[in-house]
Amino acid sequence: MLGVRIGLLTGGGDCPGLNAVIRAAVRKGIGAYSAELVGFRDGWRGVLDDVCDELTIESTRGILPRGGTILGSSRTNPAKREDGVGVVADTLARHGLDGLIAIGGEDTLGAANVLSEAGINVIGVPKTIDNDLGATDQTFGFDTALQIATEAIDRLHTTAESHHRVMVVEVMGRSAGWIALHSGLAGGADVILIPEIPFDVGDVCGLIARRHQRGRPFSIVVVAEGAMPKEGTMTIVTGELDEFGHPRLGGIGHQLEREIEARTGFETRATVLGHVQRGGTPTAFDRVLATRLGLAAIDAAHAGHWAHMTALHATSIELVSLAVAVAEVRRVPVEEYERYGVLFG
Ligand code: F6P
Repeated sequence: MLGVRIGLLTGGGDCPGLNAVIRAAVRKGIGAYSAELVGFRDGWRGVLDDVCDELTIESTRGILPRGGTILGSSRTNPAKREDGVGVVADTLARHGLDGLIAIGGEDTLGAANVLSEAGINVIGVPKTIDNDLGATDQTFGFDTALQIATEAIDRLHTTAESHHRVMVVEVMGRSAGWIALHSGLAGGADVILIPEIPFDVGDVCGLIARRHQRGRPFSIVVVAEGAMPKEGTMTIVTGELDEFGHPRLGGIGHQLEREIEARTGFETRATVLGHVQRGGTPTAFDRVLATRLGLAAIDAAHAGHWAHMTALHATSIELVSLAVAVAEVRRVPVEEYERYGVLFG
């Protein structure tokens, strides 16, 4: 029996573990199902422009521990083009593909869902360091980013203490503060600012000043790049929008640095971790999670379970409807943040 022919793509911001998904899907696809796999370059752009290569066990050998994605990525949105659905369908037909496995976050999978509703066969695999996809308990990439951010906070702690400084650490997290919250908790931060809860810089400075009065002349402030001040408390600047309408972030750390120093008189320095959090080798946890999601995705493609996303539920990998999966972003619940309030300061 002839196996299915499947196209694979990785879209949106890259993250550690993408290659582990590709490797697992290719190995099981070829080994167990005699499937044929094709990798599209640079996310949806490769499907629109029809740029792809055959994926084989040989061409995907050795990629398990490699960060990034061997397929490349982009923030191209096929749903933004009037002829997007037609062009994707033509590319699939030209290569005799039964469907696509799209590995991505809310944007890539949102586009996958639009295409799926228009009749294209798609299976989604959830990735993002932000850990903000609603229908899965955790996305791969998050654990690696968390380790990197925690290690950075540990390192900043020792230098903050030596110089009696306030250190502001800006981590990623556009609309969800999971990296900030978990790295801040793991690193013993004094202040954690997340997008879900607008902050008052006056309160932040008050807490830092009280620490100084108690003989702790250094502080660690972890801020998610998407954290916002309460209206009227501090002016902030954001960058231009991408194809999915998201502003380019990165800057709140330095703005806080200036504000805290001006208001408290304490020497303050900001570190923006930025893309360091997305680079390099995945943790063992992310490699295993990504592998399990890749195996489940090729199982679903072989069985024709289109319009689904593979998801981690407790310790099991299950399929959820793609439409349900992209319906909501998973943000930090306010009660969860407040539970840790006793640890701050
Ligand atoms: O992929 C998620 C993410 O890392 C966000 O945390 C961040 O806001 C965004 O991507 C940055 O995107 P880019 O790499 O395109 O600047």
